[in-house]
Formats: sequence, structure tokens, C-alpha cells
Amino acid sequence: MRQEWLAFIGSLRKGSYNRALFDVFSGMAPADVVWHEAEIRALPFYNPDMAPPPEADHFWQQVRSADALVFFTPEYNGSIPAVLKNAIDWASRDPQGSPLVGKPAVVLGASQGLFGTLRSQLHLRQILSFVGMELVQRPEVLVSEAHLKLEPRGQLNDPVAVRLMKTLAQNLYERVGRMLAV
Ligand SMILES: Cc1cc2nc3c(=O)[nH]c(=O)nc-3n(C[C@H](O)[C@H](O)[C@H](O)COP(=O)(O)O)c2cc1C
Repeated sequence: MRQEWLAFIGSLRKGSYNRALFDVFSGMAPADVVWHEAEIRALPFYNPDMAPPPEADHFWQQVRSADALVFFTPEYNGSIPAVLKNAIDWASRDPQGSPLVGKPAVVLGASQGLFGTLRSQLHLRQILSFVGMELVQRPEVLVSEAHLKLEPRGQLNDPVAVRLMKTLAQNLYERVGRMLAV
């Protein structure tokens, strides 16, 4: 059954390792998964006083219509980058009600450090649980020393991570499939 997955890439950097990780993971999803990328770059810092700009309407529409959210996070100072937290804050404040509640999600991350986004993933999983998402928690995918393993356009030289990513994609696909079957 066709599934729509929405990727959140928590780095705005050209040449981002997390974008490269997205390229790898998107190639592993079953063939009837349709990928979209959440447009988080143009979102201003969330401010309840502000009339939502057109970018927010578009973003809310993207999140509403997704069957699952897939987060790719770097680690910035032991946590997630502000751009990712800002996007989650915007999503949670959809005037039609938060589309995050009950929606399946997975987390992956790549950093150049030795701990491979361990700390940022812990924070992100806590935030996503708080906003009511249905996290597929396992297997955990942490790519450390990303500069040694990830190449642009979809090459990951880490057989263990590749195996875990395939299992994670399958686990998410099955979770969404069960949800859509209800
Ligand atoms: C402000 C800032 C803080 C960072 N803090 C951490 C950190 O706490 N732990 C870590 O492993 N890497 C840290 N890094 C390095 C990033 O993980 C690394 O630059 C990574 O490649 C960023 O992801 P990207 O390639 O997808 O942009 C930091 C980088 C920046 C710019």
C-alpha cells in the first residue's frame, strides 16, 4: 500500500552528512513509499504573536498529509539543532490541531564525532514522545565519524549501519501499514 513519508533534515548545510544519510535511507524504503522533504528552511522562529506566513501553511499541509515522519538529526552542542526544534514547534501549533499526535516517526543521525548523535537523539526522542508521536524506537541508527563513512549521493561505508537502516525502514513500513489498515 502506498505510504507518504516526510523527511526532516536537521541541517541547512550544503554537503550535510545528514542529507547524505537521507539519500541512503530513502533508497532502502519499500518501493511504494513516496518521499517528501519537509520545507523547514523558510520557517521563521515560531512566535505566537505573528500571523503565520504562507510557508507555515505549506509546512502544516506537508505534515498533515504525511503517513510518517523521518528525522535526520546532527548534534549541536549536545542536542538537536535549533532549526529542527523550531520546525517541531511549528508543527505542534497547527491551527487545525497538532498533526503529530499518533503519527509514526523514526530518528536517525550522523555526526563527525565519536558518539554519533547519541545525545541529540535522546533529546529528539524525548521531544517527539512529548508531542505525542508514535516512535518506532528500534533499531537505533547512529552514524559516528560521518566524514569517514558517508559519501554524497547515497553511499554509506558502514555495513552495520546499513543493515540497521534496512531493518528500521521495514519496521516503520510495517507500523504505518498497520495504522493505515485500521
Ligand atoms: C554549533 C555546532 C555544535 C556542534 N556540536 C556537536 C556536538 O555536540 N556533538 C557532535 O558530535 N558534533 C557536534 N558538532 C559537529 C556536527 O555534528 C557536524 O558538523 C555534523 O557534520 C553536522 O551535521 P551535517 O553534516 O548534517 O551538517 C557541532 C557542530 C556545530 C556547527
